[in-house]
Amino acid sequence: MDTNTFETLIAEGKTIEPHDPMPEDFRRSVLRQIAQHAHSEIIGMQPEGNWISRAPSLYRKAILIAKVQDEAGHGLYLYGAAESLGMDQGEMLERLHSGQQKYSTIFNYPMLTWADVAVMGWMGDGAAIVNQVPLSRCSYGPYARAMARICKEESFHQRQGYDAMRVLANGTEEQRNMAQDAVNRWWQPSLMLFGPPDTDSPNTARSMAWGIKRHTNDELRQRFIDLCVPQAEALGLTIPDEELIWDAERGHYNSGPLDWDEFWANVNGAGPCTRERLARRVAAHEDGRWVREAAAAYEHQIENGALV
Ligand code: 3HC
Repeated sequence: MDTNTFETLIAEGKTIEPHDPMPEDFRRSVLRQIAQHAHSEIIGMQPEGNWISRAPSLYRKAILIAKVQDEAGHGLYLYGAAESLGMDQGEMLERLHSGQQKYSTIFNYPMLTWADVAVMGWMGDGAAIVNQVPLSRCSYGPYARAMARICKEESFHQRQGYDAMRVLANGTEEQRNMAQDAVNRWWQPSLMLFGPPDTDSPNTARSMAWGIKRHTNDELRQRFIDLCVPQAEALGLTIPDEELIWDAERGHYNSGPLDWDEFWANVNGAGPCTRERLARRVAAHEDGRWVREAAAAYEHQIENGALV
């Protein structure tokens, strides 16, 4: 393999394309990240999909349906990008179902009220945008290009979430309390979307050297906190962190510690809703078996010239 070509492309800030030579570790690392990202999109459809029939108005329902459909689309672009690295979607799904590949911990928390749907859009998708915009400059071309389109849609998701929060925050006392309760429960999971602290992130250094990631987990988490705190203030809601304070010298907010034991338990398969999410995913896959079989039979007939 001509590693020079790979090293040169990386050094010149050019993208690596599927036909370019690449070290096996690079291929495996990009595939790992894209697969976990794709799985997050499709598992993420579940908690919000559960609220479609309970959305408070036709307007909110139409938006939520569009958002959940967007997530299915994001999953498909990402599976497509991952397939270009040599693993097909069927195998990735098997690995998801058996727990070998991960999805984001944020989707393992229950969505108890309508305010949770709103806060997931505002904070969850807000965090996703901060994480994903730099990925549109990722060194692996198909991933970077998928990200450009995904980020446009994520930005709509964040705005609709903020808008739904604004309505609750300016509503009745009960609605305000519901909004605050949701912020209290989702702040920490949203910050954990950025991954473990840099000191406990085994993949960051190499992924940064190869341009797969452009910023560390802590850098992006800080960026999100700095963006989100003034938004919460504009809504009149309180961020549940007593140590949160503006540090004029650093030009950033200082914040308190997160419960990393809870995070790692969640990553390792013991999140509050992990079992439910995976069981639902496996059941949906089984329900779709006849469609996959029919499509394969049709393709087989085309290949054999039985259908013209
Ligand atoms: N949830 C689950 N697993 C996580 C995680 C999280 N929030 N954060 C980290 N991990 C896992 C990593 O996958 C890694 O495990 P592995 O080595 O077995 O794959 C391990 O914890 C150590 O973490 P690292 O920091 O070393 O891993 P990375 O360098 O890959 O960084 C990441 C983690 C920041 C999540 C990075 O992979 C990334 O940016 N991924 C792409 C974006 C993505 O997947 N976002 C998920 C949310 S999906 C979404 O935004 C949808 C929207 O609708 C909400």
